[in-house]
Amino acid sequence: MASSPVGVPWRATMDEWPRSRELLALARQSLAGGVNSNVRLGSPPTPLFFTHAAGALLHDVDGHTYIDYALGQGPMILGHSHPAILEAVTAAMAAGQLFAGQHELEITVAQHLVRLIPCAELCRFNVSGTEAVQAALRLARAVTGRTLIVRFEGHYHGWLDNVLVSVAPPLERAGPRTAPHAVAGTAGQSLAVLDEYLVLPWNDLALVEALFAARGSEIAAVISEPVMCNTGVIPPAPGYLAGLRRICDSHGAVLILDEVITGFRLGLRGAQGNFGVTADLATFGKAMAGGLPNAAIVGKRALMQRFAHDVNHSGTFNANVLAMAASAAALRELERDDGAVYRMLDERGTALMVGIRTLAAQHGLPVLIQGFPAVFHVAFTELPAIRDYRDYVTGCDRERYRRFAVALLRRGIRVIERGIWYLSAAHTPNHIDQTLAAVEAALLEVFAGPTP
Ligand SMILES: Cc1ncc(COP(=O)(O)O)c(C=O)c1O
Repeated sequence: MASSPVGVPWRATMDEWPRSRELLALARQSLAGGVNSNVRLGSPPTPLFFTHAAGALLHDVDGHTYIDYALGQGPMILGHSHPAILEAVTAAMAAGQLFAGQHELEITVAQHLVRLIPCAELCRFNVSGTEAVQAALRLARAVTGRTLIVRFEGHYHGWLDNVLVSVAPPLERAGPRTAPHAVAGTAGQSLAVLDEYLVLPWNDLALVEALFAARGSEIAAVISEPVMCNTGVIPPAPGYLAGLRRICDSHGAVLILDEVITGFRLGLRGAQGNFGVTADLATFGKAMAGGLPNAAIVGKRALMQRFAHDVNHSGTFNANVLAMAASAAALRELERDDGAVYRMLDERGTALMVGIRTLAAQHGLPVLIQGFPAVFHVAFTELPAIRDYRDYVTGCDRERYRRFAVALLRRGIRVIERGIWYLSAAHTPNHIDQTLAAVEAALLEVFAGPTP
């Protein structure tokens, strides 16, 4: 077996995961489906078991090493096992874990957010992004005295009953493109929540205007990913986020930007900084905590202040010592040298995006890459752009992409099979070169014949 310049064991025919399969069978005896998040159930060729991760590399129980573009579904922006995170968490661990009371690090992290995030005048912490979104929706309803929420098809805001609506609806149940039905996302879901949502396709401001003209006085909030990362990494159309801001203002509705992916990934000021739009409330998670569970709702003082009075926001593990220590260290690293990490991510991510595009063009393959250097999407499609959920579902060869993800895995590259790629500060130019070599081979493999 040859070894690459960065030390990744290179196995062009890596196709066996016997120990992962064995462990999965064992896990299924005591864990439903053998996993702890349904997102992991479907991972082809089998949910893998890992032993350790450092930098950009991930190691599995079968002795394979991967250059990792899944990055824990986004959080590991500094790379795995970053020394600053390990040091901060280890030191904090020794001082105690949970006080059922306040400690100074929570002020430190909140101060970072208030300084950096355009809408952040006050903050509250949670353990998961899902919870932070719950807090935002509750607060929006409290301050407006209204119930309805406008949300967009294909956006993801967590797994709970009241938000798992029209995230990936089967088109036969999704209704017309311009007036989608609210579709439940799981068996067992309370169907009452469907009446609380007005669903629209994303990136079509005229439809939002028309909806508010008809029902504006009933609408508490618009919730949106500022970039539609969960389906296609679709950037907002020029003026779209500003348009949402204007419409919310003129109808007294709350604008919630769900920055759980974009926050501290697109830049130090999140998508709000990138696009120059300030939300009323925003939610953060993933990249803000170096891999530990931490999330935040931040927003305008007049709204957030309600948490100090009549709007409940709680949680045993909120602002726990380890999460705060990890966040303080992660934010310090991300801010270092005026955000030097982001300049590096821009450079390397651009090289990767351009490299894949160039390979596809050289071989005449229909590969579309859209998004940003630190988070982008790769799709097999003839479309010039994926504009919304329906484009993604009808216009992309998702089955071929899943085979591509496995073909990459066999070559020591791990990507998420729905097309999103995350980059970390630990990905070096060598990793990028090696990835491009694997991408070329994997593309040729999956486009070699007709889709089976
Ligand atoms: C935009 C967005 N919001 C909310 C969530 C939920 O966050 P968590 O998985 O931490 O509950 C996610 C998770 O992927 C997300 O992408």
